[in-house]
Amino acid sequence: MTTIGIDDMALATAHHVVDLADLAAAAGVDPAKYRVGLGQDRFAFPAPDEDVVTMGAAAALPIVERHGAAGIRTLLFATESGVDQSKSAGLFVHGLLGLPPQMRVVELKQACYGGTAALQAAIGIVSRNPSERVLVVASDVARYELDSPGEPTQGAGAVAMLVAADPRLVEIEPVSGLSSAHVDDFWRPNDSSTAVVDGALSMSAYLSALTSAWDDFAAHGGAGIDEIDRFAFHQPFTKMARKALRRLATHTGAALDDVLQEATFAYNRELGNTYAASLYAGIAALLDGDDDLADRRIGLFSYGSGAVGELFTGVVRPGYDRVLRPGAVPDALAARVPLGLAEYRALHAVQHPSDVDLTTPSVTKAPFRFAGLRGRARQYERTA
Ligand code: HMG
Repeated sequence: MTTIGIDDMALATAHHVVDLADLAAAAGVDPAKYRVGLGQDRFAFPAPDEDVVTMGAAAALPIVERHGAAGIRTLLFATESGVDQSKSAGLFVHGLLGLPPQMRVVELKQACYGGTAALQAAIGIVSRNPSERVLVVASDVARYELDSPGEPTQGAGAVAMLVAADPRLVEIEPVSGLSSAHVDDFWRPNDSSTAVVDGALSMSAYLSALTSAWDDFAAHGGAGIDEIDRFAFHQPFTKMARKALRRLATHTGAALDDVLQEATFAYNRELGNTYAASLYAGIAALLDGDDDLADRRIGLFSYGSGAVGELFTGVVRPGYDRVLRPGAVPDALAARVPLGLAEYRALHAVQHPSDVDLTTPSVTKAPFRFAGLRGRARQYERTA
């Protein structure tokens, strides 16, 4: 049987970083509430010339440079912070990367679940024709109102994945446990740049989706709980993954203390919530960690408010470590430019009306930038 999964993956983030210790000091909150209570240290914040397109293209660039575009006939772009109501953000990325015209390019949305929807659709395409490869890009900017409980869980980042037959990083196994329910836990109305959220409901909806997806996974012959070596969860903040593991342990009666490695938190603690990319940033961190994961099975839980959950598994391929890019993500995180609280609050307030031509200042050091608006159309350019 053809194995299909993640052949390569890369992560990009935004130009700026906000330290949660600064946010706590300004809000008069004990910094331990964010560091320990939420499990977050900092969040990435975009410069005015960055968005989901520039981060997504930056994440995909090293993959296209390494593998070329041959056989890539589909680009799936998952986001819930898209830049246009009609045109796929993927088409901007397609142009910026100089990909061939003989491709289908689509944007997918279901809150933070979109990245997994794209991955599973990609697997379907490759299973029909194993000579094809699919470029999946999950990219998001998480924004909440200033001074709201959600503010310390903001973030920004993108993960790009090449999905192919006989993958070199992680084979995705065929069984998935699914759960969908209509819940008003978190959403973003069309006229708002920030999400509306019922925090307590969002956490209980996440945990309900987890147990319901687990039951469906078990009913469809998925791996037993004792056959799963590690877990990686969607991480709106890393403490949520701890809550998820605890709930799964209670639900299955298994002692799961060893399976959630701190390693899955390393990038998310620094990025903040990257919505559709968050689970995949957790997987990237796990693979980049010190543990030898060859032939290990990872349980994966993807959740998108509203609400859809999917529980599935991946098996890490022998030799995966030769595909990784050692130091790439820590370097990108370290290169971010800190924002003081006043600068951050001023940037947070910036909104670009779409009916006024605009030239954005050159700030980002990323390979692509949002150059502005011309006749209501978004303009992007390569920086180097
Ligand atoms: P809050 O009300 O400010 O926080 O908002 P809290 O009072 O509940 O405290 C948070 C934790 O800090 C608690 O830990 C406190 O005990 C602890 P817990 O009891 O839950 O384990 N704490 C402290 N710890 C150490 N030292 C201290 C201290 N003080 C308190 N001094 C909330 C928290 C998550 C609700 C808020 O940040 C929020 O609304 N975030 C956005 C929504 C969210 O992330 N929901 C998660 C599930 S939904 C999801 O994952 C989907 C999503 O990614 C969107 C999508 O799908 O597109 C969000």
